[in-house]
Amino acid sequence: MTNRDVSDLPVDPPSMLDTAQTTPLDPTQPTPSRGPQTAAGLTAAQTGRTAHTAHTAQTAQTALQAAQAEFSPSGIYLNSASLGLPPARSLTDLQRAVTHWQAGTADPPSYDRYVERSRELYAALVGTAPERVAIGSQVSAFVGLIAAALPAGSEVLVVEGEFTSLVFPFLAQATRGVTVREVPLEDLAGSVSAATALVAVSAVQSADGRVADLDALVAACAAHGARTLVDTTQAAGWLPVQADRYDYTVGGGYKWLLAPRGTAYFTVRPDLADGLIPHAAGWYAGAKPWESIYGTPLRLSPEARRFDLSPAWHSWIGQAPALELLTEVGIETLHSHAVGLANRFRAGIGLGAGDSAIVSLAVTEGVPPALKAAGIAGAFRAGRLRVGFHLYNTAEDADAAAEVIRALVR
Ligand SMILES: Cc1ncc(COP(=O)(O)O)c(C=O)c1O
Repeated sequence: MTNRDVSDLPVDPPSMLDTAQTTPLDPTQPTPSRGPQTAAGLTAAQTGRTAHTAHTAQTAQTALQAAQAEFSPSGIYLNSASLGLPPARSLTDLQRAVTHWQAGTADPPSYDRYVERSRELYAALVGTAPERVAIGSQVSAFVGLIAAALPAGSEVLVVEGEFTSLVFPFLAQATRGVTVREVPLEDLAGSVSAATALVAVSAVQSADGRVADLDALVAACAAHGARTLVDTTQAAGWLPVQADRYDYTVGGGYKWLLAPRGTAYFTVRPDLADGLIPHAAGWYAGAKPWESIYGTPLRLSPEARRFDLSPAWHSWIGQAPALELLTEVGIETLHSHAVGLANRFRAGIGLGAGDSAIVSLAVTEGVPPALKAAGIAGAFRAGRLRVGFHLYNTAEDADAAAEVIRALVR
């Protein structure tokens, strides 16, 4: 199992997390309450009780409303496809960690609990086992491992306009004769051929939110002996994803998974893991990270953790509580809420229903000032307005955005 207890470590200082549960840092400034759900979640992390228990104790709607109470955007926030918002529980733990850091009482080994809890919760979210999940800070670093392992002369199939962290690592292998073929998203499955070594695709396109037909892709790749690499960055957190259906997946945590920037995940089919060289292995890729901080021999974890990159600690402190919250709400509720709001917004501007939490629109030049005046946050990607709906958004958000944008759609 991937789970290690802090007490297994050679140095056994009091865990920051343990301390944080019981003792406020400064009695004159009590740390903000996390609320009953959060306390249950983190206690679950320590006792082994799953967040699922908390979920079944509430209706989906109650869990969603409780989760929404943890967010406080100043306006109408429709930019989760760029970066997600942190829940109160993440801020509580981050503030506590920063206070410890400032006071010189931070305990780095205790941060491992956040990493391991995130690994477990991400694994559960995408339907795989924690042993199959590696962690790092950026998607592109993991894609680079796959690109470097391709035989010379391989063809990689990608989607036109794909996010470049999923494309550049393959283009960078051009000197070895690796070629990249770009096709429209709707032609992806039909373009797989016997010459294709790997198809790399985002489950949801960053530029415009289109959802890939991964069933068709898996079938086409099986028929032609091609491998699949699916990027979950714009999907995990609102769209159900089953990582074990694909040979490799990569995903960043700072959008729909509500982490600070600096968390990323990689899954690899166990029988393919030996085909990848852990090019960037460091101390954290060791079977016991705190026992592999010096010297030879190479002693990597037998699990996917051998592809771990040493964690950007504070990012993971924000990530684990956020994943607890998403788990409490549940992926079915997250999905129906986000797509329901996107479709409410679409209806409000005269568009038919879609299947994505992200809506992309050609709009007039009047939109940026109109959005600013209304306090609406969106983004411009590939020359179009991109808005996204997540658990913290409401029907009022969708209606207010539609009201502002309706007359400005091209
Ligand atoms: C589909 C997709 N993949 C990856 C990323 C981020 O990549 P990286 O972690 O390499 O910065 C983004 C960011 O927008 C994205 O939309």
